[in-house]
Amino acid sequence: MEEYFPPRVRLRGKPRLSQQDSAQLQKDFDDFRDGLPRLIESHVNSTYGIDLKSKYAGLPVKNPFGKASGQLSLAAHQVERDSAAGLGFVILKTVIAQNSHGEQSMWEWAIPETRMTVERIRGRGGKEGWTVTWKGRGWYKTLEDYRDFFDQALSIGAGSGMLIVPSVKYHLPTPDEDFWKEDEYVFTTNLLLEPWKKHNPALAMPLEKDFSPTLAGSGRAAQQANILEWLANVPALVHAVDPGKIRVGLKMFNALFEDDFQLRMLDAVHKASGENQADFLIYANRLFDPQKTYLDKVGVAYGGPDLSDRNLSVLEKFLAGRFALQEKMEFLPLSATGDIHSGRIAAEYLLRGCSTFQMHTIFQLPDSEYAMNTGSKPEKAMHMLLFHPEDGLIAWLLHLRAKFGWKSGMSVCEMAGWCRNRWPDVETEFVGDGR
Ligand SMILES: Cc1cc2nc3c(=O)[nH]c(=O)nc-3n(C[C@H](O)[C@H](O)[C@H](O)COP(=O)(O)O)c2cc1C
Repeated sequence: MEEYFPPRVRLRGKPRLSQQDSAQLQKDFDDFRDGLPRLIESHVNSTYGIDLKSKYAGLPVKNPFGKASGQLSLAAHQVERDSAAGLGFVILKTVIAQNSHGEQSMWEWAIPETRMTVERIRGRGGKEGWTVTWKGRGWYKTLEDYRDFFDQALSIGAGSGMLIVPSVKYHLPTPDEDFWKEDEYVFTTNLLLEPWKKHNPALAMPLEKDFSPTLAGSGRAAQQANILEWLANVPALVHAVDPGKIRVGLKMFNALFEDDFQLRMLDAVHKASGENQADFLIYANRLFDPQKTYLDKVGVAYGGPDLSDRNLSVLEKFLAGRFALQEKMEFLPLSATGDIHSGRIAAEYLLRGCSTFQMHTIFQLPDSEYAMNTGSKPEKAMHMLLFHPEDGLIAWLLHLRAKFGWKSGMSVCEMAGWCRNRWPDVETEFVGDGR
């Protein structure tokens, strides 16, 4: 197993808050155990001077918390609950692309879910967390069903100002293939554009490309070359379907290689230009344990503390590397995923320039892990993520505001941009005193 390098910049201990803020947060946390305020954002703005607005793929979202693609975003009733809980955005379950004849090169991924287990996991640094282990893969109904579900979800989202985003797994050539099944890209993307254009005629559609790899059996060098080729080609293939009308997001994954390769992936997507460049990134999908077994499966994906440690560590190395080059830098908009089980972790991703946070596991925890007495899991998660007096996002944004001298009323999006553009200052500030 590879050496363990924990991230250097961490938010440790308790947030430093004024007595007044601390008392107010405790009061809100307790008051909202029986129900969140109807307009969370205006409450947070008027009470704490924090504007929760942010951007996902360049599009405005009312707050930075969203649901990541998975088993919890494949039915309208789930999207309705997310909308009622006040989530900023939802990424729908990944659909497996197909061509006009109904053929799917990634068909192996389109199997019905059979089992899902939520379990405790201990990270290499000794921290306890949660992971979801499951068997099953992508959307297994028809593509037309997915289009209709997307349409329905867009209507639900419009009612509460919650952005809805589709996720697709298109054909990716293996090392033995020297062609791209472009017809899958064209047919699937066009079908998804139908409902999007109906609801948002003036806006380009954001779309996440799920990159969970399928390279088992290939050699290491071949795999690496292959992955870099995918990253270089996918954005142009999707953009070409309807130029100017699609924002392509690459959901980066943790490959089975060292951090250096993760950095090469991040460099490659930033160096691409024109239609070959993605419009935004999601960083980063789960780790893979080739030895772990689940039911009859050997090798499973996992999350928990190792996932956030690795993602935070790679992102800080990436930022440090870019600044060391001293070139003029453009950063792609970043949405974070990976073990975001508290506002504290969300703020750690924000320190690395992530402007939104998308979660799966936190919406599946046992009831004993939340503090609200009533409500759905998305509501209970929002309550913890925002209002927890020591681990919530508000507490840590207040802490960071005082530390960095941010103005009252600054938005989450502006805070993320500030951190990203001044990473060397952020790093010095934290690595210096360990807070
Ligand atoms: C049961 C389950 C199903 C998932 N399905 C998908 C999927 O279809 N597409 C995708 O891009 N990511 C999928 N993911 C990854 C999540 O979207 C998310 O990025 C990842 O779990 C990390 O977030 P978390 O630590 O909050 O769970 C899935 C994760 C789980 C646990």
